[in-house]
Amino acid sequence: MSLTKIVQGSLGLGVLLLSISSAFAAPIPPSATVCTSCHMPTGMGLPNMAPMIAGKNAKYLTRQIDLFLGGERNDPLMTPMASLIVDPQKKAEAISYFASLSAPEIKTPEQRGDHVIISDPARKLVYQGDWSRNIPACSTCHGANGIGDKDFPRLANQHPDYLEEQLKAWKNKTRSGDHNDVMGSIARQLTNTEISQLSQYFANVK
Ligand code: HEC
Ligand code: HEC
Repeated sequence: MSLTKIVQGSLGLGVLLLSISSAFAAPIPPSATVCTSCHMPTGMGLPNMAPMIAGKNAKYLTRQIDLFLGGERNDPLMTPMASLIVDPQKKAEAISYFASLSAPEIKTPEQRGDHVIISDPARKLVYQGDWSRNIPACSTCHGANGIGDKDFPRLANQHPDYLEEQLKAWKNKTRSGDHNDVMGSIARQLTNTEISQLSQYFANVK
């Protein structure tokens, strides 16, 4: 085989592989286009701008849109955006796009049960909670490393400013709508120092 043929052959293969990989990347539906300016086409969001929503459970994401529409959650940037997808079909389309994206893989997952003595105060709250203040371990619901599951949103690798704001919003009663005030009653027991330590812990999960 001549050199040109080999080059042409591998170029052809490259084009073929490129078209296969772009066929797998989900196209952005029209109703989600506006969202990508803050949440990014990857759904990873931007620090101090918008949270990571990639790979979160569709039911959780849909409910959050409804909470912005109902006023249980308030944000000068996000509230007007929720009103753009009031139409059920648009809402479902935008949400299923972000839910289908993958969030970063956690390379060193921790086991929930193997922590006996923990000195770091944030990790202690994550894996053991503090029963003297009725704070259950965050991992009970959010999973080891805050990886999340269905109704319990992923906290791992979320932007720390967002995590901190949410916990403070529950504490100050400006975010509600969580089932049985589960997060509200936890957040009100946390000090601002603990809130910032927990936000750093989850943001930096590797
Ligand atoms: C101008 C920037 C901006 C745009 C555009 C935007 N968002 Fe947001 N979004 C935010 C911010 C900021 C928050 C966090 C609000 C808060 O602190 O409560 C947020 C939060 C969310 C949440 C809640 C996430 C969670 O984990 O609870 C969802 C879901 C969401 N956005 C979906 C969307 C969708 C769908 C669109 C497009 C229709 C969109 N966003 C467009 C800025 C934006
Ligand atoms: C009993 C179960 C439970 C425990 C324990 C728990 N959470 Fe949650 N958490 C939830 C649920 C449910 C939600 C979603 C609330 C909603 O739908 O609005 C949530 C949401 C959150 C959010 C908002 C995420 C987002 O994307 O907006 C943060 C931050 C959070 N929890 C932090 C914590 C921390 C830190 C702890 C431990 C101190 C903890 N949680 C313990 C059930 C729990």
